[in-house]
Amino acid sequence: MTEKIVVLGTGGTIAGTAASSSDHTGYTAAQIGITSLLQSVPGLQEALQGRELVSEQLAQLDSKDMDFDTMRRLAQSCVHHLAQPEVRAIVITHGTDTLEETAYFLHRVIPIELQAKPVVLTCAMRPATSSEADGPRNLRDAVLVAGDSHARGVLSVCAGDVHSAKTVQKVHTYALNAFSSGDVALGEPGVVAQVVGDQVLWKPVFQSFLDEKRHIDRIESAQAAIDLIVNTSVAKIAWPRVEIVLNHAQATGSIVRALLAEATSQDPLCGIVVAGTGNGTVSESLQSALNEAQPKGVEVIVASRCAWGGVHDVSALSAVKARIDLMLKLLRAA
Ligand code: SIN
Repeated sequence: MTEKIVVLGTGGTIAGTAASSSDHTGYTAAQIGITSLLQSVPGLQEALQGRELVSEQLAQLDSKDMDFDTMRRLAQSCVHHLAQPEVRAIVITHGTDTLEETAYFLHRVIPIELQAKPVVLTCAMRPATSSEADGPRNLRDAVLVAGDSHARGVLSVCAGDVHSAKTVQKVHTYALNAFSSGDVALGEPGVVAQVVGDQVLWKPVFQSFLDEKRHIDRIESAQAAIDLIVNTSVAKIAWPRVEIVLNHAQATGSIVRALLAEATSQDPLCGIVVAGTGNGTVSESLQSALNEAQPKGVEVIVASRCAWGGVHDVSALSAVKARIDLMLKLLRAA
């Protein structure tokens, strides 16, 4: 049986085009189809190591516009393909802007037994038409990682670094290496592997980090939400509305009160994630507005606007990932 690697295209800068090959920033994302993109990847055949490549255009969007219905279709497609014995792994091309949200969502909803096979998201900071496009190398690296015998779980690959879905964050607006998983020397997980030439060099953190924390996540997760997303054919899912509010110097409660005022019984406000300052601190004015929201049925979660460290004893997740967790917890069938 020839093993397959399935590549799902969703758009992003990796599929973007600009008017000139010297234009690295003034471009339109999500223009080139995944089949064409794969035709211009040097070293792809070597990275496949005899495996067959199958591609599918799942979406074609700028990831700032990523929506939960597309994320759900992506999860269902991953579950379908991973369950096929001949499928070795999945690679997903995605915009960098919300890659960490999709990666975390998939990490939470793909059943753990299927995550014995890897799902590898990749991206680019320069459009496909750029004379110095980074997409082809990232795509080749992603295929290499997808075929590596140690790879499992949801990972992302950019600029030679391999990140876990749980820790990856976009931290730079234009650098080719725009992502970080923190610095091991500072007590953060760091990257789980690096692609050097034709080799994937795994860090010791990979085993302990992915095994332990992923399993704990699963136990704590909302199993009903996972079943609803991946195992049922419910066409319409009521995604709970969860907003993110930032604390800052002189933050008032106005945004929270405006959110409460516009909520209706058809479109209720279900949750607020506060990106608090430092260790999740919130100004007195903002806190009193949050105190008004909770009795109205709004669940409030505190994260930190700091990139690393999380909120001690509450959550290690960034605000955007804490929002996904809360949505999964509150999810219900329409
Ligand atoms: C996007 O996120 O789709 C556009 C930006 C990027 O991919 O870098």
